[in-house]
Amino acid sequence: MSNAVCDLFGIRYPLVMGGITPKPELGIVVSNAGGLGCIEGVMPADGLREAIQEFRSKSDKPFSINFPLAMGSPEMTAEKAKVCVEEQVPVVITSAGNPKILTAQLKEGGVTVGHVVASTYHARKAADAGVDCLIAEPTESGGYRGEQEIAMMVLIPAVRRALPDIPLVACGTVADRAGIVAVMALGADGVQLGTRLMVTKEAAASYGDHVAKLVLAADDTSTMSAEGRIRPRISKPAFAEEVLGTSSKRTQMGQVAALIDEVVSVEDVFRELFEGGPELAREVIAKFDEIAQTAPVS
Ligand SMILES: Cc1cc2nc3c(=O)[nH]c(=O)nc-3n(C[C@H](O)[C@H](O)[C@H](O)COP(=O)(O)O)c2cc1C
Repeated sequence: MSNAVCDLFGIRYPLVMGGITPKPELGIVVSNAGGLGCIEGVMPADGLREAIQEFRSKSDKPFSINFPLAMGSPEMTAEKAKVCVEEQVPVVITSAGNPKILTAQLKEGGVTVGHVVASTYHARKAADAGVDCLIAEPTESGGYRGEQEIAMMVLIPAVRRALPDIPLVACGTVADRAGIVAVMALGADGVQLGTRLMVTKEAAASYGDHVAKLVLAADDTSTMSAEGRIRPRISKPAFAEEVLGTSSKRTQMGQVAALIDEVVSVEDVFRELFEGGPELAREVIAKFDEIAQTAPVS
Protein backbone atom coordinates (compact mmCIF):
# COMPACT_ATOMS: atom_id res chain seq x y z
CA MET A 1 0.00 0.00 0.00
CA SER A 2 1.27 3.45 -0.79
CA ASN A 3 0.02 7.01 -0.75
CA ALA A 4 -0.32 8.81 -4.11
CA VAL A 5 0.95 12.16 -2.80
CA CYS A 6 3.91 10.64 -0.93
CA ASP A 7 4.86 8.61 -3.99
CA LEU A 8 4.58 11.57 -6.35
CA PHE A 9 6.66 13.96 -4.25
CA GLY A 10 8.98 11.39 -2.63
CA ILE A 11 7.98 12.38 0.91
CA ARG A 12 7.23 10.44 4.12
CA TYR A 13 3.93 12.13 5.11
CA PRO A 14 1.30 13.59 2.72
CA LEU A 15 1.61 17.06 4.25
CA VAL A 16 2.26 19.89 1.83
CA MET A 17 3.18 23.37 3.04
CA GLY A 18 1.32 26.15 1.22
CA GLY A 19 3.09 29.14 -0.29
CA ILE A 20 2.98 31.19 2.88
CA THR A 21 6.43 32.76 3.07
CA PRO A 22 9.27 33.55 0.66
CA LYS A 23 11.79 32.80 3.43
CA PRO A 24 13.12 29.24 3.23
CA GLU A 25 13.44 28.56 7.00
CA LEU A 26 9.97 27.17 7.72
CA GLY A 27 9.98 25.03 4.57
CA ILE A 28 13.30 23.49 5.59
CA VAL A 29 11.77 22.38 8.91
CA VAL A 30 8.68 20.96 7.17
CA SER A 31 10.72 19.03 4.60
CA ASN A 32 13.12 17.71 7.23
CA ALA A 33 10.10 16.51 9.24
CA GLY A 34 8.91 14.45 6.25
CA GLY A 35 6.48 16.80 4.48
CA LEU A 36 6.90 18.97 1.38
CA GLY A 37 8.29 22.36 2.46
CA CYS A 38 7.68 25.40 0.26
CA ILE A 39 9.27 28.66 -0.78
CA GLU A 40 6.77 31.25 -2.02
CA GLY A 41 8.43 32.38 -5.27
CA VAL A 42 7.36 36.01 -5.23
CA MET A 43 10.86 37.51 -5.31
CA PRO A 44 12.97 38.32 -8.41
CA ALA A 45 14.80 35.45 -10.16
CA ASP A 46 18.17 36.07 -8.45
CA GLY A 47 16.56 36.06 -5.00
CA LEU A 48 14.72 32.86 -5.85
CA ARG A 49 17.97 31.14 -6.85
CA GLU A 50 19.54 32.22 -3.55
CA ALA A 51 16.55 30.95 -1.55
CA ILE A 52 16.73 27.56 -3.34
CA GLN A 53 20.45 27.28 -2.62
CA GLU A 54 19.88 28.29 1.01
CA PHE A 55 17.22 25.58 1.30
CA ARG A 56 19.58 22.99 -0.18
CA SER A 57 22.35 23.93 2.25
CA LYS A 58 20.06 22.86 5.13
CA SER A 59 17.98 20.05 3.67
CA ASP A 60 18.44 17.34 1.09
CA LYS A 61 14.70 16.60 1.11
CA PRO A 62 12.13 17.42 -1.60
CA PHE A 63 10.49 20.87 -1.54
CA SER A 64 8.36 23.07 -3.76
CA ILE A 65 8.40 26.57 -5.18
CA ASN A 66 5.00 28.26 -5.32
CA PHE A 67 4.10 30.69 -8.10
CA PRO A 68 0.87 32.66 -7.63
CA LEU A 69 0.50 33.35 -11.37
CA ALA A 70 -1.62 36.47 -10.96
CA MET A 71 1.29 38.23 -9.28
CA GLY A 72 4.21 39.63 -11.26
CA SER A 73 4.63 39.84 -15.04
CA PRO A 74 4.42 36.66 -17.19
CA GLU A 75 8.00 37.33 -18.39
CA MET A 76 9.32 37.44 -14.81
CA THR A 77 7.44 34.26 -13.91
CA ALA A 78 8.83 32.47 -16.99
CA GLU A 79 12.35 33.57 -16.00
CA LYS A 80 11.78 32.17 -12.50
CA ALA A 81 10.45 28.91 -13.92
CA LYS A 82 13.72 28.69 -15.88
CA VAL A 83 15.62 29.08 -12.59
CA CYS A 84 13.58 26.17 -11.14
CA VAL A 85 14.55 23.96 -14.09
CA GLU A 86 18.23 24.98 -13.92
CA GLU A 87 18.30 24.35 -10.18
CA GLN A 88 16.42 21.07 -10.62
CA VAL A 89 13.74 22.03 -8.15
CA PRO A 90 11.70 18.87 -7.47
CA VAL A 91 8.20 20.42 -7.38
CA VAL A 92 6.49 23.64 -8.49
CA ILE A 93 2.98 24.45 -7.29
CA THR A 94 1.20 27.12 -9.33
CA SER A 95 -1.90 28.98 -8.17
CA ALA A 96 -4.20 31.89 -9.01
CA GLY A 97 -3.93 31.62 -12.78
CA ASN A 98 -3.94 29.50 -15.91
CA PRO A 99 -2.10 26.17 -15.45
CA LYS A 100 -1.17 26.19 -19.15
CA ILE A 101 1.24 29.08 -18.57
CA LEU A 102 4.09 27.08 -17.00
CA THR A 103 3.20 23.40 -16.84
CA ALA A 104 4.75 22.25 -20.15
CA GLN A 105 7.96 24.28 -19.63
CA LEU A 106 8.40 22.87 -16.13
CA LYS A 107 7.55 19.29 -16.96
CA GLU A 108 9.89 19.27 -19.95
CA GLY A 109 12.56 20.41 -17.50
CA GLY A 110 11.87 17.45 -15.19
CA VAL A 111 9.88 19.34 -12.53
CA THR A 112 6.77 17.78 -10.95
CA VAL A 113 3.88 20.25 -11.16
CA GLY A 114 0.88 20.76 -8.88
CA HIS A 115 -1.83 23.37 -9.42
CA VAL A 116 -4.24 24.95 -6.93
CA VAL A 117 -7.90 24.82 -8.01
CA ALA A 118 -11.09 26.03 -6.37
CA SER A 119 -13.69 24.22 -8.53
CA THR A 120 -14.15 21.05 -10.56
CA TYR A 121 -14.14 23.14 -13.77
CA HIS A 122 -10.66 24.43 -12.97
CA ALA A 123 -9.54 20.97 -11.83
CA ARG A 124 -10.41 19.58 -15.28
CA LYS A 125 -8.56 22.45 -16.98
CA ALA A 126 -5.48 21.80 -14.84
CA ALA A 127 -5.59 18.07 -15.60
CA ASP A 128 -5.90 18.88 -19.33
CA ALA A 129 -2.84 21.13 -18.99
CA GLY A 130 -0.93 18.06 -17.76
CA VAL A 131 -0.36 18.84 -14.09
CA ASP A 132 0.72 15.89 -11.93
CA CYS A 133 -1.31 16.80 -8.86
CA LEU A 134 -4.27 18.93 -7.83
CA ILE A 135 -4.43 21.01 -4.68
CA ALA A 136 -8.13 21.73 -4.11
CA GLU A 137 -8.71 24.90 -2.14
CA PRO A 138 -12.21 25.51 -0.70
CA THR A 139 -13.77 28.76 0.38
CA GLU A 140 -12.93 28.20 4.06
CA SER A 141 -9.18 28.21 3.40
CA GLY A 142 -6.71 31.02 3.83
CA GLY A 143 -5.71 31.07 0.16
CA TYR A 144 -6.78 32.32 -3.26
CA ARG A 145 -10.23 30.84 -3.55
CA GLY A 146 -11.59 32.65 -6.59
CA GLU A 147 -15.23 33.60 -6.77
CA GLN A 148 -16.99 30.27 -6.53
CA GLU A 149 -17.04 29.81 -2.74
CA ILE A 150 -17.23 26.01 -2.84
CA ALA A 151 -16.94 24.33 0.56
CA MET A 152 -14.47 21.53 1.35
CA MET A 153 -17.29 19.00 1.92
CA VAL A 154 -18.34 19.37 -1.70
CA LEU A 155 -15.11 20.37 -3.47
CA ILE A 156 -13.05 17.30 -2.61
CA PRO A 157 -15.66 14.64 -3.48
CA ALA A 158 -16.65 16.56 -6.64
CA VAL A 159 -13.06 16.81 -7.89
CA ARG A 160 -12.43 13.18 -6.91
CA ARG A 161 -15.47 12.01 -8.88
CA ALA A 162 -14.45 14.07 -11.92
CA LEU A 163 -10.81 12.93 -11.84
CA PRO A 164 -10.60 9.65 -9.92
CA ASP A 165 -6.94 8.91 -10.61
CA ILE A 166 -5.07 12.16 -10.05
CA PRO A 167 -3.18 12.70 -6.75
CA LEU A 168 -5.42 15.08 -4.78
CA VAL A 169 -4.42 17.33 -1.89
CA ALA A 170 -7.11 18.99 0.25
CA CYS A 171 -5.95 22.53 0.77
CA GLY A 172 -6.56 24.33 4.04
CA THR A 173 -9.19 24.10 6.76
CA VAL A 174 -7.07 21.48 8.53
CA ALA A 175 -5.28 22.04 11.82
CA ASP A 176 -5.88 18.84 13.76
CA ARG A 177 -6.65 15.13 13.62
CA ALA A 178 -10.35 15.66 12.89
CA GLY A 179 -9.45 17.80 9.88
CA ILE A 180 -7.16 15.24 8.28
CA VAL A 181 -9.53 12.33 8.93
CA ALA A 182 -12.38 14.35 7.40
CA VAL A 183 -10.56 15.27 4.18
CA MET A 184 -9.19 11.75 3.75
CA ALA A 185 -12.76 10.44 4.12
CA LEU A 186 -13.88 12.91 1.44
CA GLY A 187 -11.36 11.48 -1.01
CA ALA A 188 -8.14 13.46 -0.61
CA ASP A 189 -4.72 11.78 -0.55
CA GLY A 190 -3.11 14.46 1.58
CA VAL A 191 -3.35 17.96 3.02
CA GLN A 192 -1.89 21.38 2.32
CA LEU A 193 -1.54 23.58 5.40
CA GLY A 194 -1.19 27.34 5.66
CA THR A 195 -2.61 28.94 8.79
CA ARG A 196 -1.62 26.08 11.14
CA LEU A 197 2.02 26.21 10.02
CA MET A 198 2.13 30.01 10.29
CA VAL A 199 1.53 29.75 14.02
CA THR A 200 4.33 27.38 14.95
CA LYS A 201 7.46 28.01 16.99
CA GLU A 202 9.59 27.68 13.86
CA ALA A 203 7.48 30.19 11.91
CA ALA A 204 7.72 33.02 14.43
CA ALA A 205 10.77 34.62 12.76
CA SER A 206 9.01 34.76 9.38
CA TYR A 207 5.99 36.86 10.43
CA GLY A 208 5.17 39.99 12.38
CA ASP A 209 3.78 39.44 15.92
CA HIS A 210 0.30 40.49 14.79
CA VAL A 211 -0.11 37.28 12.73
CA ALA A 212 0.04 34.88 15.69
CA LYS A 213 -2.02 37.29 17.82
CA LEU A 214 -4.82 37.39 15.25
CA VAL A 215 -4.84 33.65 14.56
CA LEU A 216 -4.82 32.73 18.26
CA ALA A 217 -7.64 35.16 19.08
CA ALA A 218 -9.82 34.20 16.10
CA ASP A 219 -13.18 32.51 16.34
CA ASP A 220 -15.30 31.22 13.48
CA THR A 221 -16.52 34.73 12.61
CA SER A 222 -13.12 36.46 12.42
CA THR A 223 -12.32 36.17 8.69
CA MET A 224 -13.76 37.44 5.43
CA SER A 225 -13.01 37.46 1.71
CA ALA A 226 -10.78 40.24 0.43
CA GLU A 227 -12.00 42.12 -2.64
CA GLY A 228 -10.61 41.45 -6.11
CA ARG A 229 -10.18 38.53 -8.47
CA ILE A 230 -8.18 36.07 -6.35
CA ARG A 231 -9.98 36.93 -3.10
CA PRO A 232 -7.70 35.65 -0.34
CA ARG A 233 -9.38 35.10 3.04
CA ILE A 234 -8.24 37.74 5.54
CA SER A 235 -8.83 38.84 9.13
CA LYS A 236 -11.82 41.23 9.45
CA PRO A 237 -10.85 44.87 10.17
CA ALA A 238 -13.18 45.11 13.21
CA PHE A 239 -11.65 41.94 14.66
CA ALA A 240 -8.10 43.27 14.12
CA GLU A 241 -9.12 46.53 15.82
CA GLU A 242 -10.44 44.58 18.80
CA VAL A 243 -7.32 42.37 19.14
CA LEU A 244 -4.53 44.74 18.12
CA GLY A 245 -6.08 48.14 18.78
CA THR A 246 -5.71 48.99 15.08
CA SER A 247 -7.35 47.85 11.87
CA SER A 248 -4.37 48.86 9.74
CA LYS A 249 -2.69 45.49 10.32
CA ARG A 250 -4.35 42.41 8.91
CA THR A 251 -3.30 38.92 7.96
CA GLN A 252 -4.32 36.37 5.39
CA MET A 253 -5.70 33.39 7.33
CA GLY A 254 -8.24 30.58 7.03
CA GLN A 255 -11.42 29.94 9.02
CA VAL A 256 -9.42 27.17 10.67
CA ALA A 257 -7.78 29.89 12.79
CA ALA A 258 -10.82 29.37 15.05
CA LEU A 259 -9.37 25.95 15.98
CA ILE A 260 -5.82 27.14 16.68
CA ASP A 261 -5.22 28.33 20.23
CA GLU A 262 -1.61 27.42 20.86
CA VAL A 263 1.79 27.99 19.28
CA VAL A 264 3.17 24.47 18.81
CA SER A 265 6.21 23.03 17.01
CA VAL A 266 6.09 21.71 13.45
CA GLU A 267 6.81 18.27 14.91
CA ASP A 268 3.70 18.61 17.12
CA VAL A 269 1.64 19.33 14.00
CA PHE A 270 2.89 16.17 12.30
CA ARG A 271 2.23 14.14 15.47
CA GLU A 272 -1.33 15.48 15.81
CA LEU A 273 -2.14 14.65 12.18
CA PHE A 274 -0.31 11.36 11.61
CA GLU A 275 -0.56 9.77 15.07
CA GLY A 276 -3.78 11.47 16.17
CA GLY A 277 -5.47 10.94 12.78
CA PRO A 278 -5.30 7.12 12.78
CA GLU A 279 -6.34 7.09 16.47
CA LEU A 280 -9.43 9.17 15.68
CA ALA A 281 -10.22 7.09 12.59
CA ARG A 282 -10.32 3.99 14.80
CA GLU A 283 -12.74 5.76 17.16
CA VAL A 284 -14.95 6.60 14.19
CA ILE A 285 -14.96 2.96 13.10
CA ALA A 286 -15.88 1.97 16.68
CA LYS A 287 -18.88 4.35 16.51
CA PHE A 288 -20.09 2.64 13.34
CA ASP A 289 -19.53 -0.77 14.93
CA GLU A 290 -21.72 0.29 17.87
CA ILE A 291 -24.44 1.39 15.48
CA ALA A 292 -24.23 -1.94 13.65
CA GLN A 293 -24.55 -3.85 16.93
CA THR A 294 -27.49 -1.85 18.27
CA ALA A 295 -30.74 -3.77 17.91
CA PRO A 296 -33.23 -1.89 15.72
CA VAL A 297 -36.08 -0.17 17.59
CA SER A 298 -39.20 -2.17 16.78
C1 LIG B 1 -0.16 34.56 4.86
C2 LIG B 1 -0.55 33.70 3.71
C3 LIG B 1 0.04 33.93 2.46
C4 LIG B 1 -0.30 33.12 1.39
N1 LIG B 1 0.31 33.32 0.18
C5 LIG B 1 0.06 32.45 -0.84
C6 LIG B 1 0.79 32.53 -2.07
O1 LIG B 1 1.63 33.40 -2.28
N2 LIG B 1 0.51 31.60 -3.01
C7 LIG B 1 -0.43 30.61 -2.83
O2 LIG B 1 -0.63 29.77 -3.71
N3 LIG B 1 -1.12 30.52 -1.68
C8 LIG B 1 -0.89 31.41 -0.69
N4 LIG B 1 -1.56 31.27 0.49
C9 LIG B 1 -2.48 30.13 0.67
C10 LIG B 1 -1.72 28.97 1.30
O3 LIG B 1 -0.71 28.52 0.45
C11 LIG B 1 -2.63 27.77 1.61
O4 LIG B 1 -3.17 27.26 0.43
C12 LIG B 1 -3.76 28.15 2.55
O5 LIG B 1 -3.29 28.96 3.60
C13 LIG B 1 -4.39 26.89 3.10
O6 LIG B 1 -5.48 27.22 3.90
P1 LIG B 1 -5.42 27.29 5.52
O7 LIG B 1 -4.77 28.62 5.78
O8 LIG B 1 -6.85 27.22 5.87
O9 LIG B 1 -4.59 26.16 5.98
C14 LIG B 1 -1.26 32.09 1.56
C15 LIG B 1 -1.87 31.89 2.82
C16 LIG B 1 -1.53 32.68 3.87
C17 LIG B 1 -2.20 32.40 5.18
